[in-house]
Amino acid sequence: MSNIVTIYSLSKTYSDGFQALKPINLQIKKGEIFALLGPNGAGKTTLISIICGLVSPSGGQVTVNGFDIIKDFRKTRAMIGLVPQELVGEAFETVLAAVSFTRGLFGKAKDPAYIEKILRLLSLWDKKDARIQNLSGGMKRRVLIAKALSHQPKILFLDEPTAGVDVALRKDLWQMVRDLRDSGVTIILTTHYIEEAEEMADRVGVITNGELLLVEDKAILMQKMGKKRLTLQLVSPIKTIPQELANYGLELSKCGNELLYTYETQARSTGITSLLNDIRQAGLKVGDLFTQQSSLEEIFVDLVKDAQ
Ligand SMILES: Nc1ncnc2c1ncn2[C@@H]1O[C@H](COP(=O)(O)OP(=O)(O)O)[C@@H](O)[C@H]1O
Ligand SMILES: [Mg+2]
Repeated sequence: MSNIVTIYSLSKTYSDGFQALKPINLQIKKGEIFALLGPNGAGKTTLISIICGLVSPSGGQVTVNGFDIIKDFRKTRAMIGLVPQELVGEAFETVLAAVSFTRGLFGKAKDPAYIEKILRLLSLWDKKDARIQNLSGGMKRRVLIAKALSHQPKILFLDEPTAGVDVALRKDLWQMVRDLRDSGVTIILTTHYIEEAEEMADRVGVITNGELLLVEDKAILMQKMGKKRLTLQLVSPIKTIPQELANYGLELSKCGNELLYTYETQARSTGITSLLNDIRQAGLKVGDLFTQQSSLEEIFVDLVKDAQ
């Protein structure tokens, strides 16, 4: 897959001296859904605002489809649709007028059929004559997405698309984003919801304190960084972990009937065979056992903790 966005050594220090981005290198592949995952204040909005030409970089270079975002600003901006984090917009206008107007801003000829298509895709067609101010928060967000798509961008940036959006609408938006990707649009979304990255992304970049900690295929990330937890259910509960098992770093559940053992999935030896032997030696009887793969959430918490 070819790269549609190339970010080379990009940094940002705001005028008050705050360094929001340490030099960042990143390539976004054409046609993927890329999730930039990080806590509040990590630098996500700063990064995408630079790519969209709203914030000037302090150093480095970004190209979009081979064009430089500063030298060829008009060209790169026309290829980009941005759905901002904050709800803003022409409150008094109707949905249809606002979305059509935005298309015009990019110098594109009118195309009522296309505008109708995106309004239908976003379940906004029924509301086309409604004033934006009278819409619910979720509907307003859909209008922002329609505006961002009005000029047929190749790349869509979604800055925290589902922050403050209810669960039902969130699922709808996720489906819509997938449909857009399937229609050939490259999607870059920022989120601090791990669930969102896990659900949506083809690849994930983890950012914290202005630093891109890693970029990885979501599936590989979960496999590579993942730990597995083995739960051993004891036939009779115990009060303390026997001395013979001290080296395994086991946890005992509150009721004393479960031993929890955590191991790295990539480790050469999991240690499970010897653990089971030692458990038997210690006179404990295991009734049942099962394993659990750690979620992206646990991986993320570990990563961010280690970086601090
Ligand atoms: N205009 C600005 N001037 C100074 N600092 C800023 C400005 N905009 C953002 N910051 C700071 O940069 C950091 C990253 O902000 P932001 O990119 O909005 O993070 P995120 O979107 O990941 O929550 C934060 O600490 C924020 O306070
Ligand atoms: Mg932000």
